[in-house]
Amino acid sequence: MKTEHAPTIQRADYRPLSWTVETVDLHFALDPEATVVTNRMLCVRNPDADAGPIRLWGEDLKRLSLTVDGQAPAALRESGALIEIDAGGDRVVVEVRTRIDPKANTTLSGLYLSNGGFFTQCEAEGFRRITCFPDRPDVMARFTVTLEADRANCPVLLSNGNLIGQGELPDGRHYARWEDPFPKPCYLFALVAADLVALERTVQTMSGREVLLQVWVEEGNLDRCGHAMDSLVHSMRWDEETFGLELDLDRFMIVAVADFNMGAMENKGLNIFNTKFVLAKPDTATDIDYEHVESVVAHEYFHNWTGNRVTCRDWFQLTLKEGLTVFRDQQFSADMLARAAGAEGAASARAVKRIDDVRVLRAAQFPEDAGPMAHPIRPDSYQEINNFYTATVYEKGAEVIRMLHTLLGQEGFRNGMDLYFSYHDGEAVTCDDFVEVMSEANNGFDLDQFMRWYSQAGTPRVKASGEWNAAVGSYTLTLAQYTPATPGQHAKLPLVIPVAVGLIGPDGRDCALRLDGEAQDGATTRVLKLTADEQRFRFVGLAAEPVPSLLRGFSAPVVLELDEDDARLAFRMAHDADPFNRWDAAQRYAERVVLAMAADAAAPVPDAFVAAFRALLGDGALDPAFRAQALALPGEAYLLERMAPAEPLALRAALVRLMRTLGERLAADWLALFDAMQVPGEYRYHPADAGRRALANLALRYLAAAGDGEGLARAQTRFEAASNMTERFGALAALVQSTHPAREAALEAFHARYRDDALVLDKWFALQAGAWRWDDAAAPVLDRVRALLSDPAFSLSNPNKVYALLGTYFRANPGEFHAADGSGHAFWAEQVIALNGRNPQVAARMARALESWRRFTPALQASIRAQLERVLASEGLSPDVAEVVGKALD
Ligand code: ARG
Ligand code: ZN
Repeated sequence: MKTEHAPTIQRADYRPLSWTVETVDLHFALDPEATVVTNRMLCVRNPDADAGPIRLWGEDLKRLSLTVDGQAPAALRESGALIEIDAGGDRVVVEVRTRIDPKANTTLSGLYLSNGGFFTQCEAEGFRRITCFPDRPDVMARFTVTLEADRANCPVLLSNGNLIGQGELPDGRHYARWEDPFPKPCYLFALVAADLVALERTVQTMSGREVLLQVWVEEGNLDRCGHAMDSLVHSMRWDEETFGLELDLDRFMIVAVADFNMGAMENKGLNIFNTKFVLAKPDTATDIDYEHVESVVAHEYFHNWTGNRVTCRDWFQLTLKEGLTVFRDQQFSADMLARAAGAEGAASARAVKRIDDVRVLRAAQFPEDAGPMAHPIRPDSYQEINNFYTATVYEKGAEVIRMLHTLLGQEGFRNGMDLYFSYHDGEAVTCDDFVEVMSEANNGFDLDQFMRWYSQAGTPRVKASGEWNAAVGSYTLTLAQYTPATPGQHAKLPLVIPVAVGLIGPDGRDCALRLDGEAQDGATTRVLKLTADEQRFRFVGLAAEPVPSLLRGFSAPVVLELDEDDARLAFRMAHDADPFNRWDAAQRYAERVVLAMAADAAAPVPDAFVAAFRALLGDGALDPAFRAQALALPGEAYLLERMAPAEPLALRAALVRLMRTLGERLAADWLALFDAMQVPGEYRYHPADAGRRALANLALRYLAAAGDGEGLARAQTRFEAASNMTERFGALAALVQSTHPAREAALEAFHARYRDDALVLDKWFALQAGAWRWDDAAAPVLDRVRALLSDPAFSLSNPNKVYALLGTYFRANPGEFHAADGSGHAFWAEQVIALNGRNPQVAARMARALESWRRFTPALQASIRAQLERVLASEGLSPDVAEVVGKALD
């Protein structure tokens, strides 16, 4: 394990390597405790680089031998993980033999064991934990891999590309040989040797080639693979239709593994997935799980082009592949939802997806961008690259690509993508290369200023104000922008911000838009380009004072500051033609109400708010999925972000009171809504049904919060009679979020039913860790979380369990975690220290839960600071955790 705190790596220091690798021949003699890896690399001098030694990286390896063209190297220098070898000529064969201990590898990076099988995770720098190699994404080599293992334990042997040989060996062992025809960086290498079975399907690609698709899982899970397989086929079709991109291999495999640090990994032809994002059947997976499986399968599949065929030159460019691929998976999911909804429902279905994505951005990325880890989507420096798989790189990165799409239009964007592949297929490139081709494919469209989105951190503020001139019927909109300072970046320059605007007339209908000096074209939404610190836009030809609807569809990842009174928010909540903004108006109104209640414990819930809420609730013309979004309060993490100073306990008390009040005052409406939203017949995963179930579950939540007898009875019946997980878990969640005495029995019954199902137990852990206290006399949730740590199903070694129990408590339960006595913070330090020794990546993710501590009240700050210092002073701190805690304390 790396123990010393890591030095900072700078983007500006990038230099190409003097030597790269053309071909790699790997041989694995797999053994749980002593795997021997033989690695033969054809190293070639890089004509584009300065002369220098061959550089390899190796970490946690027992090196058995290293030769250059069969000889001991003339000179070999080592410092930390880096090995430098002097070599003459232009082409040499370097052969390295290493021994590794997969069983002792608890980091889940490199080669590790999960339930007796061998699996790998190499992104970002895990390959160096398998063998010595120039472990950088700009080294693209052709891989041939031979796996050798015990046949009984590991009947299935997989690696990237095509199977080119297999057979028996003495002593009950066997082997398989795989060849990947495409050069790739080593972070895309993978192997699997385990006892698995596959669901298979053969499909034709757009050019008529037959390809074999496989989803590999443990035997008992074969009945949970169908949705992942369907999602894969849909993703293939979508990429063919939308971008003309076809699968380039004869075989494409997805493998599910229960121990996995992240969601999934796009290894060439052999995607390895967290089981959470593969397995789904009605009895164990909710509608949301089905959605996640579909989008993660799509995300990893789309990486085959955006990430694998064209990859990143260095890890600072991570958003090149991640931002773009998240954007692609978001568009795919929106298209799938729109298709299922049919022509009439398509716009609303797309808005629901957009709302989901923006909720994630606001809850996770906005706080990150305002805290000590704030970084541009293309960072300038890092200590540990694994800490930069962030909401900023992924989600804000996707927003930046979306803005390009908005500015260039669908066709312009597609032309840019085509040019990107024609120029850079097979290369490792930078974000500048991407933006440059986008410009070139669009008649030199000027994107120079746009590039600031890649270099500036912080969430920009757009301040809007309007002025109505009744005499001439004009409305002047003033937009101003500023970006707050972030660590290391004090002065910010103006960005290119596309602001989609509509103007709503007094009748609630959109006005036709005409800017002064332009002809009328009938459009009711148009995109204004804000590029300066402040700009004015004058709309003319208006009959009456309009209500502005700004940033429609969330056209830029900014905070919109606009003075709107309650009446105006209620008006937009009822009439905004842009469904995203209609939702956003409801969120803004709810935010205002709940923050006022948090500031004053005696502040009532305004009648007008209840009325506006009731109107949405009862609007049968609105799609249920949309109503479920509009009637759900803003997320607690987002609200905390909007509070200065942040007072988690006061906020929680306000949320409890607001949920209760809305439950009580609208009880009859919720009951009627619940009954109306029942979905008859057998469960199928379909967005229309999912929307009804989501709305029914939300109705139960409000009723349970209010302690409504009829509502609780319905929850209990639904819990007992449900035919699928969405309804069963929704009912359980409602019971748990109440003071009903049946809650404990329901939790127990759920546990008894699913005691052997790891993924369902994750839900059970998370539900308890995230519970609110609806009864002032109830015990703190921390007591429960502590007790669950010693539940036989819990394990600190399994990331899913850690995320479910600890992650939920630290990140999704601020009203409990930030208890005034500091018990939550002390518990956090204890757990981060325990995790640090096993799995630094997981530990660092948990460590981040307290990074925004300076936003809290002085008493909470003091409590948190002491625990941050305790962690920083603890022995054997990994660079991963050291970076997070060090930056938090800076
Ligand atoms: N490239 C993967 C994805 O976005 C994420 C893998 C990151 N893993 C890590 N340990 N940093 O799909
Ligand atoms: Zn990705």
